[in-house]
Amino acid sequence: MVSYQIAVIPGDGIGVEVISAGLAVLHKAAALTGSFTIESVEYPWSCKWYLAHGRMMPEDGLERLRDSDAIYLGAVGFPGVADHVSLRGLLLPIRVGFDQYVNLRPIELLEGIVGPLRDRDSSDVNIVCIRENTEGEYVGLGGRFHEGRPDETAIQTSVFTRPGIERVARFAFERARLRRKKLASATKSNALQYSAVLWDEVVAEVGTEYPDVELTKCHVDALAARFITAPDSLDVVVGSNLFGDILTDLGGALQGSLGLPAGANLNPERHFPSMFEPIHGSAPDIAGQGIANPMAAVWAGALMLEHLGQQEAAGIVMAAVRLVAKEGPRTRDLGGTAITTDVERALVAALGK
Ligand code: NAI
Ligand code: MG
Repeated sequence: MVSYQIAVIPGDGIGVEVISAGLAVLHKAAALTGSFTIESVEYPWSCKWYLAHGRMMPEDGLERLRDSDAIYLGAVGFPGVADHVSLRGLLLPIRVGFDQYVNLRPIELLEGIVGPLRDRDSSDVNIVCIRENTEGEYVGLGGRFHEGRPDETAIQTSVFTRPGIERVARFAFERARLRRKKLASATKSNALQYSAVLWDEVVAEVGTEYPDVELTKCHVDALAARFITAPDSLDVVVGSNLFGDILTDLGGALQGSLGLPAGANLNPERHFPSMFEPIHGSAPDIAGQGIANPMAAVWAGALMLEHLGQQEAAGIVMAAVRLVAKEGPRTRDLGGTAITTDVERALVAALGK
């Protein structure tokens, strides 16, 4: 029987609360299929750790994670440590260091959960967002100048490379081929005449290898509107780091709550471990109350099982998510009164039903 070494980074705030629920579901799913076990190794790296050690993770942090089969992450960031410090000290080094250049984020309306588009149902909203995850607007190049003066200035540069665009575009076309064969590429080439024009050119070039996939180029603002007005016209969406980030929070809102959507940070070549996380943050406004919705973290667990090749277990977990979405219990973000552990128990009980 295979045993997977999973590096678990619960992180901050509700990250800790939802990952604990996620692990309970994953262990039971493993036991149900009887085909694998999960050995988790927990790393306490977080803002709390930063306050004690002056950094978000040890200097050899990536080395310690490198041999794991996957990384399961809650959320990082909490008041007391600036967000750019926590993001750049832990999450981005893992995504970039392990070349997790695809950030795959499914956006599906779950039956039973009423989103803002109440007349739509689960057949209208089923989108997979492919976010470029290692370059673009997040490279962290730039500087500040005349700090503290009235004419203080900051410059932050985006970096788009042909190989970087090409590989994420190829992944998106491949994914579209497995689905409804439609790919929408998020751009803003009317305003960004260098970076977004290169993006458009490279995506179109890769597209010539996929004549069976219908490619449309959409300005990101219009695409955001289309998420709400015509979600059924969208199948796979590919976008840069920043565009993908914004569109997927919009997608989460479309699903009904940020407590639902999950993401996979993939290194498709498997040279490094991939990382799975809910797309929400540490939610300081509700942290410590035990009321966070664990469904996004559980969904992230299903994406992890799929990546590990445990399709049966992944299917069992997603069926449980769908059943609990439909029949409850529901946490407050979905209009219910249940607490995190109620939903965790319901999910564990729903496995295999
Ligand atoms: P957030 O996602 O933490 O919260 C936004 C809103 O959604 C809040 O009202 C929160 O209560 C609600 N929410 C989020 N997840 C929920 C859940 N599972 N159940 C119920 N309600 C939920 O985003 P925000 O407030 O912008 O960021 C808070 C902190 O998290 C910041 O430090 C930020 O940097 C960090 N963050 C970390 C991420 C990561 O580690 N991947 C991603 C996004 C934010
Ligand atoms: Mg985000």
